Amino acid sequence: MREGIVIPVDGPAGSGKSTMAKAIADHFGLDYLETGALYRAVGLMVLDRGGDPDDAELAARCAREMRFECRKTPQGWRNFLDGRDVTQALREERVSDAASRVSAFPPVRQALLSFQRSYKERRGAVVDGRDIGTMVFPEARLKFFLDADIEVRIQRRFRELRERGIPFDEVRLGGAIRARDRRDRERAAAPLLAAPDAVRVDTSDRSIDQVLASMLEKVREVYGEVIEAP
Ligand code: DC
Repeated sequence: MREGIVIPVDGPAGSGKSTMAKAIADHFGLDYLETGALYRAVGLMVLDRGGDPDDAELAARCAREMRFECRKTPQGWRNFLDGRDVTQALREERVSDAASRVSAFPPVRQALLSFQRSYKERRGAVVDGRDIGTMVFPEARLKFFLDADIEVRIQRRFRELRERGIPFDEVRLGGAIRARDRRDRERAAAPLLAAPDAVRVDTSDRSIDQVLASMLEKVREVYGEVIEAP
């Protein structure tokens, strides 16, 4: 019954989209795909091969060759590249930068499209990213677009790194986040954009629980009993 249900959750880095998408997936027992991790994995592959993330041809080749999986484990949702758990490696700053570069190339995006679309044939899924509601699943009945003030999003990233004990330079990292944000919004291929029919959620001054409650309510409103079934 739930096959074919796919819920796009789009938004910029630090908007809370992955946190929310995972929580919605767990709540209803749906599958989950973090598409940012797909682009990050392409970036990591390019770097591992000693390549330049601005090399469009190499990036497209990596995207075509990549075997990626987002799987739920006892440690939570983890990302696997060619069978290797790369969840942690994908968060490195150099990989964030590479991902933002490779994701601007249309052949890279094209190569990742059918994998993303295959999630529709599964047991229902929540998919987070930048263009899920506009390009990947524009037909989805319910789609979310999360956003938050850029300063709030930068502070969230700082807090995350502090909690994990990772040292960083506030000025440099703040600048890098702003630059990536601009690149994601201004690029020609699938720029970050809310679908006209997306439910917009501003997470700047609301707690995770508040945002999640409102999103779960919306999902129930649209999908009703179908989604509650195990
Ligand atoms: O959400 P994130 O920060 O992990 O995304 C990493 C990069 O990938 C970011 O620069 C934007 C890009 N991206 C994209 O172009 N399309 C998506 N659907 C998801 C991410």
